[in-house]
Amino acid sequence: MAIRFDASTGTFTIHTANSTYQMKVDEQGVLLHTYFGALADDSDFSYLIVPEDHGFCGQPAEYKGERVYSLDFCPLEYPVCGTGDYRITALKAGPEGRTPALDLRYFSHRIREGKYALPGLPALFAKAGCGAQTLEIVLKDLYEEIYVTLYYGVFDGENVIARSAVVENRGKAPATLRRVMSMGLDFPDGDMDLICFHGKHVGERQYERSALRHGITQISSTRGTSSHQMNPYVIFCGKHTTEETGSCCALSLLYSGSFQIQAEVDQFERLRVVCGLHEDEFSWTLQPGESFAAPEAVLAWSENGFEELSLSLQRTYHDHLIRSVWKDRKRPALVNNWEATYFDFSGERLLDIARRAAEIGVDMLVLDDGWFGKRDSDHSGLGDWFVNEAKLGCSMRELSRRIGELGLRFGIWMEPEMVSEDSDLYRQHPDWALTVPGRDPNRCRSQLVLDLSNREVIAYMKRSLDALLACADISYIKWDMNRSVDNVCSAANPQLSQGAVRHRYVLGLYEVMEYLHDKYPELLLEGCSGGGGRFDAGMLYYAPQIWCSDNTDAIERLRIHYGTSFGYPMSAVAAHVSACPNHQNGRVTPFWTRGICAMQGSFGYELDLSRLTPEETAEAGRQLAVYHQYYELFLHGSYYRLSSPFENHDFTAWSYVAPDRACASLSIVYTDLHGNARPRRVRWRGLERDARYRLKCVLGTAADAGTYTGAALMQGGMAVPKPECDYDSCMMIAERVGL
Ligand code: GLA
Repeated sequence: MAIRFDASTGTFTIHTANSTYQMKVDEQGVLLHTYFGALADDSDFSYLIVPEDHGFCGQPAEYKGERVYSLDFCPLEYPVCGTGDYRITALKAGPEGRTPALDLRYFSHRIREGKYALPGLPALFAKAGCGAQTLEIVLKDLYEEIYVTLYYGVFDGENVIARSAVVENRGKAPATLRRVMSMGLDFPDGDMDLICFHGKHVGERQYERSALRHGITQISSTRGTSSHQMNPYVIFCGKHTTEETGSCCALSLLYSGSFQIQAEVDQFERLRVVCGLHEDEFSWTLQPGESFAAPEAVLAWSENGFEELSLSLQRTYHDHLIRSVWKDRKRPALVNNWEATYFDFSGERLLDIARRAAEIGVDMLVLDDGWFGKRDSDHSGLGDWFVNEAKLGCSMRELSRRIGELGLRFGIWMEPEMVSEDSDLYRQHPDWALTVPGRDPNRCRSQLVLDLSNREVIAYMKRSLDALLACADISYIKWDMNRSVDNVCSAANPQLSQGAVRHRYVLGLYEVMEYLHDKYPELLLEGCSGGGGRFDAGMLYYAPQIWCSDNTDAIERLRIHYGTSFGYPMSAVAAHVSACPNHQNGRVTPFWTRGICAMQGSFGYELDLSRLTPEETAEAGRQLAVYHQYYELFLHGSYYRLSSPFENHDFTAWSYVAPDRACASLSIVYTDLHGNARPRRVRWRGLERDARYRLKCVLGTAADAGTYTGAALMQGGMAVPKPECDYDSCMMIAERVGL
C-alpha cells in the first residue's frame, strides 16, 4: 500500500496490494483520471490521453480558439455540471437560486497516515495493527467559495480503495446541492460487461451479467432502503472474465437508503461510472460554513477473475467494516419461531420449542413478531413496544429466565422504524409518521414509516430499545423493516425536499444503530428488511449478520447465496432450516439438504422443533454437531463458488477453505435428476497443492471418498456422488493428513 504525489508530474498514485489508481492535476488545475487497473508503477499515465479536436466537444473559457482541450473528452476524476462535459456528472450544485454550475480546479492536497472517517456514516476503518493511509484532494470552484474534498483510503495488504466526497460552502450565501455522488470513475474502454444483483422480496441478489451499451445504464433504488430489487453492489468486467481469469472491478456503496449507480458508455466507447445517493427529488441547502458528506464507496480490482474480487471484498468487510464483538465469535445456532408459529404462540409453546432445541444442541431461541402491544396480526401494534404479558402468560424476564435455565440464550425481534395506525403511538403522535399533508397515505403491510428526520422520533426509538433491553435478559435483536419508504414529507421539517428527508432518515437510522452499538456492545444485532431488503455494506458496520431472505427454500437460497457471495462475507448471511412443504414456494426437499444449504452463514432453524419426527430430530442433531465442530471454517474460511446455479442446472457446489488450509468443506446440492446421467466432476479450490487430504462425508448421502493430494482435488477434481432422490446433497470435509 502506498499513496504518492509526484510534484514534477502533478500525479497522485495509489497502490493497493494488487492494483494501481492514478490522477493528475493538469496545467489548468483540472483533476484528470489517468489509470485504474492491475498493479503498475508511478509512471505518469497521462501520455495515454491524446488531445485531439472532436466536433461538439467545447473548450473551457481560457482555451477560447484552441480546440484540442475539452472536458467533454478528458477522463475526469470528479465530473461536475457546468463545464461543457455532457456525460453524467458526480456533482450538480451552485449558489442558491442560481443555475447550478461549477468548475472545480485543484486547490490543495494532503497525504496522511490512518484511514479517514465519515461522522454519522458507515466507513471502513483500519483494524488493529493494520497500516492505512488517506489522501485528501481539495478542489475549489473557479468562481464561488464552494470546495469539494475527495477522500481516498487504502490499507496494508488489502486490494480495496475507499472513497468519498465532502462538499463545503465557505461562502457567505447558501448553496444548493442537487446531486452529490460519492465518486466518479472513467475507464478508457467501455466494451465491458456489467454484473448486477437484482431481485424481489423472497428472491434477492440474483446474478445478472449483460453487455454495457451506449448511453446510461442505471442500477438504483428509490425505496428509501438499499432494497430487495437492486443491490448497491456491481461488477464491471471484461467480456471473457470468469471466476479464475480476467479483469474485473467491484463497486460497492456503504449506504442503506435510496442509491444510484450509473454507467455511461459515451461517443468514444469509453465508460464513466458514478455512484452515490439517489438524486430523485434531492435538494439540500448548504448554509455558509456547512458541509455535506457523501456515503463511502469501495472499489476493488482483480486481474484474476471474480473469485479474487469476492475474496478481497469479503476479507476487507470482515476485517475493516464489521465492528461487532461478534464478528470473530461463534454465532449462536438459533431457532426462530416465525415460521413455526407466526403470531400464534404462548410462553408455553415457546418453551416447548426451547426444550427440544436445548436437547439437540441449539444455542438460542429468538422470539419473533407478535410479543408486544396489540399484535396478533400485521394490522396493528407496531410502535407499542411494551410486552404483551397476557399472551406470553408471564413477563418477558420470566420467559427469558426459563429459557436461560434450559441452557439457551434469548433473542427478540423488533421493527423500530414502523408504526401501525392501530397503535397507541400513532394515536398519540400521528405527525411522527411520514405522510403527505392532505393526502391519504399508501400503506404496505398495513403500516406507515416513522419520520427519522425528526429528533423526537429518534429519541423515542432509543427509549424503546433501552426499555426492551432492560425488561429481560436479551442477547440478540433482529432489527426488521418491512416496507419501502413513501409519502415522504416530514411534519417536523416540511421545508425539506423528499430526497433530503430520505437521506436524513438513513442518518437517523444510523444514529440509533450507533447508539445500540456503543451502549450494548455485547448485543448481537441481526439486520433484516423483509429478509434481504437492506442487505448492504452500510448495514454491516452496525450488524455483523443479516437475515438474507424471507425465502427459506433451500433450492431458491442457492441462487440467493450465490449472488450474495460476490460482494459480502458469508458469515453475514443468516440462513435457517425451515419446514416442508416450504412456506414460500411449496417445495419439498430432504431435511439434510436444508441443513447443508443453511450452513452457508449464520446457521439456525425456523420451524417448530417440538414437532419434528424422530428421524428429523436425529438429523437436526447431526447438523448441529457439524456446525459446532466446523463453525470456525464457516466463520473464517475462504468461500469458493464452484458452480453457478444460474448456469449449471443439475447441481450447485461451493466450498470453504480454512485460513491455514488444513481443513475444507465442499457441499453439493442436486437441482435436477436424469436417467442414465452423465458422470460429473467438481474441482476443489484453495487447497494446498502438495498436501494430502482425507475426504469424509459429514452430512447427506455420499460415501467417504479416500485420500488425495490438493493438486489432484483442484486439477482433476472429485467425482460428484450419484444422487439418490430429488434435491439430494452432501457435505464433504477434507482434512489435511500430512505431506
Ligand atoms: C419479516 C421478516 C420475517 C419475520 C416477519 C415478522 O418479514 O423478514 O423473518 O420476522 O417480518 O413479521
